[in-house]
Amino acid sequence: MARRRLTKAIFQFIDRGSEDDIALRHNREALERIKLVSRVLNDTSGRDPAIILFGKPQTSPLIIGPTGPAGYAWYRGETALARAAAKAGIPFTIASTSNTAMEDILANGGGTQWYQLYVWRDMEASMVAVGRARDAGFEALVLTVDSTIPYNREFDIRNGVTFPVRITPRNVVDTLLHPRWLFGTLGRYVLAERHMPRYVNIRIPENLAAKEVRGFLMKNDTLNWDFLRRVRDMWPRTLIVKGILHPDDAVMAADCGADGVIVSNHGGIASDAAPAPIDVLPAVVAAVRGRATVIVDSGFRRGSDVLKGMALGADAVIIGRATLYGVAAAGEAGASRALEILEAEIRRTMGVLGVTDIKSLTRDHVILPGQVLA
Ligand SMILES: Cc1cc2nc3c(=O)[nH]c(=O)nc-3n(C[C@H](O)[C@H](O)[C@H](O)COP(=O)(O)O)c2cc1C
Repeated sequence: MARRRLTKAIFQFIDRGSEDDIALRHNREALERIKLVSRVLNDTSGRDPAIILFGKPQTSPLIIGPTGPAGYAWYRGETALARAAAKAGIPFTIASTSNTAMEDILANGGGTQWYQLYVWRDMEASMVAVGRARDAGFEALVLTVDSTIPYNREFDIRNGVTFPVRITPRNVVDTLLHPRWLFGTLGRYVLAERHMPRYVNIRIPENLAAKEVRGFLMKNDTLNWDFLRRVRDMWPRTLIVKGILHPDDAVMAADCGADGVIVSNHGGIASDAAPAPIDVLPAVVAAVRGRATVIVDSGFRRGSDVLKGMALGADAVIIGRATLYGVAAAGEAGASRALEILEAEIRRTMGVLGVTDIKSLTRDHVILPGQVLA
């Protein structure tokens, strides 16, 4: 449904990975190769996927992750996602590059909301965003650290999805062929807000010439552990580092005062040679057990995938594209439907596995590739 409603350029921006889509495919293959072992004759009628995350109860181990283009998928798509998350009783994460003001999404979306930070070339502009998110009252700050180097997405360049957007005969035709998106999303920004969708959570200096804006918005390849320590000093609530793929980095993040880490390869976007997060998860969990909460993402599409993550030690699982497809298809109702499908699958698979409490899943419920039960 999302594919039909969105222009090809925006659908590919959401759906694809980078370079040859190898990491994107590998995320799925790695999850598919892991098997779950059922235990039988346990009464599972009272099964419940609820967990407690950072001291707060939530109805399932899901979190909606930060995805910049939510506001391009649907008019005010970030608020639609926040509402769907609130209704489902799980947290929602606002992306730095959202098109609606963070305070507005917080007030109108409700529920538990986290704020995700990219560090721009102008570091101080990022620190201003940290202060703004702190004052707005977000419960957690998610510092994304795997995106300091621009992604190599050749299809985006071909499609004109660049900064600023390149208007070509091809993408004009693409847009005209998708009138529901043209009028229902783009047209609504222009009519209701009198401008095209734009970044509103980062203050771009007004005196900057148009050609200087791109440089200002480049992510910062000087980012280092000192910046994390600086953010820790400034952020009073839960601090999470997103984009960890090595156990030693998870330990460093905990040493710098992070409360949690997200084992992630950015849904296969950051590096096409990245390992699948599910494969490095057990090592990260072992490295920071008892010191930091471990969340995993990238490739989770089914309830059974979520249970595989939990069995291998994750405390919770982030969903990126699944709810993005939902919001692109039908706004809040579409995102809610995506979450309902996932939650129903989680409950179903818990029953199949003979598990009543989702936290009771262990390594014993999983068979890894090549492993035989002895
Ligand atoms: C289209 C798209 C945009 C994204 N934008 C952001 C972002 O702005 N900030 C961020 O930290 N992660 C971003 N991510 C990564 C997601 O937060 C998450 O790590 C990833 O989508 C999980 O993989 P999945 O899509 O397979 O569920 C984005 C992912 C996608 C697919």
